[in-house]
Amino acid sequence: MNKITIAIDGFSSTGKSTLAKELAKKLEYVYVDTGAMYRAVTLHAMQNGLIENGDIDRESLLKELDGIDMKFVFNQELGFAEMFLNGENVEKDIRTLGVSKNVSQVAEIKEVRSRLVSLQKEMGKDKGIVMDGRDIGTVVFPEAELKIFMTASPEKRAVRRYKELLDRGEDVKYEDILENVQKRDYIDSHRETSPLKKAEGAVEFDNSDMGLVQQFERMYEHSLRVI
Ligand code: C5P
Repeated sequence: MNKITIAIDGFSSTGKSTLAKELAKKLEYVYVDTGAMYRAVTLHAMQNGLIENGDIDRESLLKELDGIDMKFVFNQELGFAEMFLNGENVEKDIRTLGVSKNVSQVAEIKEVRSRLVSLQKEMGKDKGIVMDGRDIGTVVFPEAELKIFMTASPEKRAVRRYKELLDRGEDVKYEDILENVQKRDYIDSHRETSPLKKAEGAVEFDNSDMGLVQQFERMYEHSLRVI
């Protein structure tokens, strides 16, 4: 079967990762969650005192950028890759509200983006990949055979995220999650370098009222049409 590149972009907590992961499994493709990479850089900065009360020490972060040891390690049992930062599994730590509050400011930095984009291009050079993020169809793989753009109302997305964090044992308030989702949407779609927007030729999914099974079937059908 012909191997293609599938680029999935969209707002936070639209269910991109869940669907992308399932699709990759079904097609026997590699799945890459690029949000995890921006989150890992943010966690590294937080752990090293380079972010205090939302202020980023950009100069020091840029000096350390190339040396950040960030790797996806495939977990056979779970069936997907987990993020390792400086040799440690940080899959849970990168998904806290604390990291979510700082990640969009880190992701605005042009040098951070160009470093991560070049790693992402390398990962996808042999195709057979499902990659999700904010700029995959516009910047990382503008030539992708299938591009998907996902949206849903901020309230629906905040409820999803809230439940996820509660399930993980985080003590969070719904209002804080909604505020974070809206703030990230704003920064992600208004930044100067590669703002979040629908790529040319992307298929739009508004999944506010669509169940996971239905969304997956639609996405799978779209991919079979181009493979
Ligand atoms: O996908 P996730 O919500 O985990 O992404 C976290 C943040 O990382 C986003 O809000 C965005 O600021 C940034 N991001 C990005 N470009 C990507 C993936 C994520 O700017 N390709």
